[in-house]
Parts: sequence; structure tokens; C-alpha cells
Amino acid sequence: MQKSDDRTPEASFRPSDYTAALVQMVLETADHVRGARVLDVGCGSGVLLAAAASAGAVHLSGVDIELGAVEATRSLLADIGFGAANDVSQGALFAPVAGRRFDLVLANLPHFPMSEGAVDGRLSSWSSGGPDGRRLMDLFLSGLETHLAPNGRALVMHNHFIGLESTRAIAGQCGLAVSTGKTIMVPVPQTKLAIMTPEVLDREIGQSIHLLGRYAFGTVDVLILTRAAEGNES
Ligand SMILES: C[S@@+](CC[C@H](N)C(=O)[O-])C[C@H]1O[C@@H](n2cnc3c(N)ncnc32)[C@H](O)[C@@H]1O
Repeated sequence: MQKSDDRTPEASFRPSDYTAALVQMVLETADHVRGARVLDVGCGSGVLLAAAASAGAVHLSGVDIELGAVEATRSLLADIGFGAANDVSQGALFAPVAGRRFDLVLANLPHFPMSEGAVDGRLSSWSSGGPDGRRLMDLFLSGLETHLAPNGRALVMHNHFIGLESTRAIAGQCGLAVSTGKTIMVPVPQTKLAIMTPEVLDREIGQSIHLLGRYAFGTVDVLILTRAAEGNES
């Protein structure tokens, strides 16, 4: 039997429970995806763009800080016959798409409250959102509005335990309205609980983190962000 190798892009960038929730949301809201120019910020395996393609998107753009993710995304999009109508770039957040606007922006960014470090066979850049989990989320929120086309929207994965009220407040300051598209629970492996910022863990147990014996689950949302001026119907 072939031994799996944690260093391959397939292993490092494998879709997670969070990815699955966003895939489901993309497929369930196909009316907003058909004909859309789509950007995935932090594209990893590229599977969210593949979901958008299957729902009728016409142009796919991906950005990731990791070269391996850029290569994995290009390869996946080529596999599904979407090799031409896309651009996938290595870079931070919106930097490679400066000046461009999109009908749909997807983001499942690292926002787990922890210091730098690799966990579960991933790269350090997969999960870590800094001590409060908000390091990239807040940068993303501050850059989003200028990358949304008229009536554009973003679907954003969001751990409850980084503070939904903070996200609403910061989004509001950035001219964005927030609504909740979907709320689910995802397993939080012991390996991640062990490195979670202790203050956040203490605060959130019994709130957004539920311990069931040796198992833990966290509440997460798929948020829908639109321009505040345009309303936020889902
Ligand atoms: C939680 S993974 C999600 C990957 C993929 N979108 C998915 O849902 O499966 C976060 C991704 O963001 C990328 N990333 C981390 N920091 C980034 C940054 N500053 N700018 C762009 N991408 C970043 C990571 O390399 C990783 O691929």
C-alpha cells in the first residue's frame, strides 16, 4: 500500500470541514455564482473555485501566500477544464488583484486563535490567526469593499470564538453589512485545542466551544458580506 506523504500539496491543502461548509454555501447560492467573476483569497487546494465553476462562474481568480497552493489550484482548475478562464497568483490577501473588482469573493482564511505553528500536517500559514485569531480577518475586512463589484458579495468562514460582534463592528466601519448564511458546528481536534490561546479557550468553553468528553466542537458561521449601501439580503 502506498504511504501518504504529509508534505504533498494534496495533503497540506486538503479540504477541511470549513471548506465543506463553504462549498455547500456556494452550491446552495448558485444564483449568485452563475456568470460571476469569483476571487478566492487563500485558495489552498482551489476547491472553492472548482465549486464556483460548477455553479456557473465565468472567471476564477485565486490568491495564496503559499506557492504550493498556487500550483495545487492551477492543477485542479486545469483538471476540471477551467485552465484558461482563471488567474492564480502568489501573494498576500488582495495584493495580487489590486484595482480589480469581483462579483463574489470567497475567504476561508487562517483565523484560529493561536501563535504561529504548524498543526495536523498543515503548514503554519493554514490555521494561525495570531493570539486573538483576527490578524488576517481584520486586514481582509479592511480591503474587501474596494474589491466588490456593484451588488457583489463575499462568503466568509468565521469561527464564533474570534468574536462575531467585533467582526460586525469592523465590517461596519469598512462600509460592509454582515448577515449569517449558515451556522454549523465543526470538530476541533485535541491537537488544535492544545495550542489555542488559553484566554480565548477559557472564555469560549460552554459558549462557542463545546466539550463532550474527549471530543470538542466549535460553532462556525458562513458570513455574507455586502456593501452596506446595497443591503444584505441572502
Ligand atoms: C484555512 S486554509 C483554506 C484553503 C481553502 N480556501 C479551503 O477552503 O480549503 C487558508 C489558506 O490561506 C492561505 N493564506 C495564509 N495566509 C495568507 C495571506 N496572507 N494571503 C493569502 N493567503 C494566505 C494559506 O496558505 C491557506 O491555503
